[in-house]
Amino acid sequence: MNTLEALQARKSIRGYLDKPVEADKLKTILKYGNKAPNAGPIHMSVIQNANLLKEINDVATEAGLKSDNDFLKQRLAIPGYKLLYGAPVLIVLSAPDGEFSAANTACAATNMCIAATELELGTCYLAGFLLAFTAKPELLQKIGIPEGFKPRCGMIIGYEGPDQIPGMEWIEDYSNINYVD
Ligand SMILES: Cc1cc2nc3c(=O)[nH]c(=O)nc-3n(C[C@H](O)[C@H](O)[C@H](O)COP(=O)(O)O)c2cc1C
Repeated sequence: MNTLEALQARKSIRGYLDKPVEADKLKTILKYGNKAPNAGPIHMSVIQNANLLKEINDVATEAGLKSDNDFLKQRLAIPGYKLLYGAPVLIVLSAPDGEFSAANTACAATNMCIAATELELGTCYLAGFLLAFTAKPELLQKIGIPEGFKPRCGMIIGYEGPDQIPGMEWIEDYSNINYVD
């Protein structure tokens, strides 16, 4: 798969097999997370412990149900819906407060989504689960987020399984592009 093929193949996977991600593949994915463009430091917490994944999922779910986010509440009402989609790996990307924190972590997560696609793994870029860290701040220490860093986004990785919610068909639309003379 070349880069353009990986970009074409990447899509959000919202259901995973109960199959671990090989350590060498994970290491490669993380390497290319660190190779992304950046304008400041980021930290990546790699979570594979099933109990911890369940705790983050459950705390975020409870917080989501109590929130005023109607979109999230609608998703959480889907029978069997899991915010982390049962993926065996969650990477939480954190960064200190700063103008470029969201961009720095997003660039790294995107690079990792593409790298994982090349390695025939599914991914999904996530933000909804971040509610877990405001609902239960002890989780920040539990996943080793450095002092002064805050979780900004996450991504899950695993082998594709039955979808919990079908993804949307990608519609090629170039109307948002303006070639400037
Ligand atoms: C900032 C951001 C936050 C996102 N949060 C979530 C999320 O919490 N849960 C989820 O299932 N998808 C999430 N997504 C994935 C988008 O829904 C998805 O990328 C978009 O619908 C396009 O679909 P595709 O990734 O299959 O091309 C997020 C994407 C971005 C960029």
